[in-house]
Amino acid sequence: MRELTYYVAVSLDGLIAGPSGEYDAFLVEGDHAEVVLGEYADALPAPAFAAFGITPPRTRFDTVVMGWNTLLPGLSIGLDSPYPHLRQYVASRGGREVASDITLTTDPVATVRELKAEDGNLGIWLCGGGELAGALVDEIDRLVLKRNPFVFGSGVPLFGAAPYAARSFELVSARAFGSGVVVEEYARRP
Ligand SMILES: NC(=O)c1ccc[n+]([C@@H]2O[C@H](COP(=O)([O-])OP(=O)(O)OC[C@H]3O[C@@H](n4cnc5c(N)ncnc54)[C@H](OP(=O)(O)O)[C@@H]3O)[C@@H](O)[C@H]2O)c1
Repeated sequence: MRELTYYVAVSLDGLIAGPSGEYDAFLVEGDHAEVVLGEYADALPAPAFAAFGITPPRTRFDTVVMGWNTLLPGLSIGLDSPYPHLRQYVASRGGREVASDITLTTDPVATVRELKAEDGNLGIWLCGGGELAGALVDEIDRLVLKRNPFVFGSGVPLFGAAPYAARSFELVSARAFGSGVVVEEYARRP
């Protein structure tokens, strides 16, 4: 069974963006970049590979799932296919047009269940955003949080407006970097 991993940058107060989509406070530079550019390099967008002079390793993920609002900022700068080295799925309830290498899904839960049942040992990356993560919360096998040392106060919650239910995860590792970023990894408890 392939795993769905929600790998995401988050503030101390559990927000993945500001109220208008602000994300510039998230730290790009610093010693935590060894994780971002190393073991999680599959989750870099296409322009980053050129900027950092690296190639997609395809050792962790071969598929990405994201919500329409997460694709949107890229579209505004002409980045209509942000992760061409992965199979890209975008959730939308309809009426959207996407690049030819992106698959739209109106039922992300069913799509993720199908993807997880496929053969293969590379994982599926849940990119975000919060609303889609809320819809997929019970499908998430692994949670990898890049917890940044900022409080946003308001913004997009990690799981949107998902209804209350206490889901149990086990802490696998927590790595604190000099930059102030803590990379926390959790696995869903069976
Ligand atoms: N910090 C990070 O690492 C990180 C990562 C990813 C995203 N973000 C940020 O998060 C923000 C976006 O999050 P968000 O919560 O506003 O939106 P989102 O989850 O990215 O997208 C919401 C949209 O996705 C579609 N959708 C969501 N759930 C669905 C479902 N169950 N079935 C069918 N379609 C569904 C709908 O699209 P339609 O409107 O087309 O129906 C919905 O309007 C952005 O600011 C982005 O930059 C941050």
